[in-house]
Amino acid sequence: MKLLVTGATGHLGALTVEYLLKLVPAEEIAVSVRDPKKAEKLQALGIDVRYGDYHHPESLDAAFSGINRLLLISTSDMNDRVGQHKAAIKAAKDAKVEFIVYTSAPNAEESGLALAPDHRETERAIKESGIPYSILRNNWYLENELGTIQAVSQGAPWVTSAGGGKVGWAGRRDYAEAAAKVLAGEGHGNTVYELSGKPLTQDELASIVAGVIGRDVPVQHVDDETYGKIMKDAGVPEAMIPFVVDIQKGIREGYLDVESDDFAKVLGRPVTPLAEILREILPQG
Ligand SMILES: NC(=O)c1ccc[n+]([C@@H]2O[C@H](COP(=O)([O-])OP(=O)(O)OC[C@H]3O[C@@H](n4cnc5c(N)ncnc54)[C@H](OP(=O)(O)O)[C@@H]3O)[C@@H](O)[C@H]2O)c1
Repeated sequence: MKLLVTGATGHLGALTVEYLLKLVPAEEIAVSVRDPKKAEKLQALGIDVRYGDYHHPESLDAAFSGINRLLLISTSDMNDRVGQHKAAIKAAKDAKVEFIVYTSAPNAEESGLALAPDHRETERAIKESGIPYSILRNNWYLENELGTIQAVSQGAPWVTSAGGGKVGWAGRRDYAEAAAKVLAGEGHGNTVYELSGKPLTQDELASIVAGVIGRDVPVQHVDDETYGKIMKDAGVPEAMIPFVVDIQKGIREGYLDVESDDFAKVLGRPVTPLAEILREILPQG
């Protein structure tokens, strides 16, 4: 049995490989990466490092050769995301991959989030390929809020235009462990999992952060335009502003408010409390 993880030099992929190593021997693990030099440490552990770039389908044919199970981590490159994913799905089909796991978005079928249509289309392409699948609809990494959390640690208010909208935040490491368990486990054929922590409002998360950093975190509710201006002033690149504002709007409209016990079921334990993740990811001192 050979399992392959794409994006293994990214945050989620690297953590997933760490968990996979606890589940299967290194000889059963392969990774497909854009830059094999970045994966030298994995090679030293006995992992089969292969070159694969979603923009170069021929590289994927070689990368996926002899692979039984594939974890397709959604690309971070926004240039033709669906085309990149479809190239990987075709290469998986050609390589006779027997099981494909894909990291999707919350409630991708119906979501109005700007990033959802690409995931929706990818999910469809996977289903149409006929390859048995598991769709991991990852809700929201707590790590996405690290910039805000660091700013509030320095005394800034928690700024949001998401109103009372809720988010199913969880630590990235829980998403990685779930991906490893589904990829290496049994009984996940043709499943869709909504991997969501307990949905919380911005005020509720700010209060958890306050408990961890040991200072008050005032929440400043603003409109989308003001939020965009404040993010720009805080150094978010101009090109990213429509994206970050859309996320706030999407949260306000409820697109990340997904109640599900899938996450705990896949992990075989409760989702890690956010305070515990915060203590791990916040710089000490
Ligand atoms: N649910 C959430 O909260 C959330 C938040 C952020 C992102 N995401 C999604 O989840 C994915 C994984 O998250 P992450 O934190 O691990 O992101 P990340 O660290 O940016 O990793 C993305 C991975 O995609 C790889 N990649 C980009 N373009 C590629 C291409 N043309 N061919 C092959 N690989 C390519 C990158 O390769 P390199 O290592 O060579 O750069 C990297 O390994 C992201 O890509 C994004 O789709 C979800």
